[in-house]
Amino acid sequence: MMTNTMPSMTAETHSTDTAALPMVATANLTKTYGSGPGAFTSLHEVSMTIPRGRFVALLGRSGSGKSTLLNLLGAVDRPTSGSIRVAGTDLTQLSDAQLALIRRRRLGFVFQSFHLLPDLTAFDNIAVPWVLDRTLTGERRAEIHALLDRLGLADKARRYPDELSGGEQQRIALARAVIHRPELILADEPTGNLDAQSGRIILDLLVELHREYGATVVMATHSSEAAERCDERILLADGRIVDSGGTTCGERADL
Ligand SMILES: Nc1ncnc2c1ncn2[C@@H]1O[C@H](COP(=O)(O)OP(=O)(O)OP(=O)(O)O)[C@@H](O)[C@H]1O
Ligand SMILES: [Mg+2]
Repeated sequence: MMTNTMPSMTAETHSTDTAALPMVATANLTKTYGSGPGAFTSLHEVSMTIPRGRFVALLGRSGSGKSTLLNLLGAVDRPTSGSIRVAGTDLTQLSDAQLALIRRRRLGFVFQSFHLLPDLTAFDNIAVPWVLDRTLTGERRAEIHALLDRLGLADKARRYPDELSGGEQQRIALARAVIHRPELILADEPTGNLDAQSGRIILDLLVELHREYGATVVMATHSSEAAERCDERILLADGRIVDSGGTTCGERADL
């Protein structure tokens, strides 16, 4: 049985040294929605590797498959075929309950459409992973307040989602995704609904988490400013990777 003090994937990864494994590795990842004549394949045999500690921008036109890919990496959805390994663990082999634990303890997911729980306040939405694990200590409460403050939302802690603007909800969703310092942060257009100033606050926070404790970040974005702050860019078109490269921000600045 797993305890709160034990990393959640230890049981599934046995004695493998997960630190040496890539954060994400997919092989022939395919997602088809529906079946028969109406079936639509939004990802075609995508194989890619993301080393630990990278900050990756996922680019591509609307409908190119960015959200589909993030949902598969984030164990929110299951592929039609192919495999996804996160820190060496093949997500396709896990039960729904095991996936839920990985989502809660090791991943941080910022959805394109927030997915805040409407009956919980902003504070409680952020605290969800710890409430579920019964580990919401006084110290962690203080951490949540500090993060709210950092995101300019100190006075909104007791508000419910429908009392917040879209941009405020987006920042709460980000806070919920990162509060437990996940090793892999998946962000689906985290700056999409924000003004330039709020967008920068979000990007600054993601960059800081990436630098501070080596979080791997995969961020779908349409923003060229956001993409330029990443180490690497993966370009999708019609469900396929058409370009990927380790162009660093520094190199880009010289272009
Ligand atoms: N549940 C579904 N059923 C059928 N088709 C779907 C479903 N979800 C997504 N699709 C289709 O899969 C394709 C990829 O969608 P996806 O949401 O991954 O695109 P995206 O790159 O995230 O676009 P955007 O930039 O607009 O968010 C689209 O053509 C979309 O219509
Ligand atoms: Mg999308």
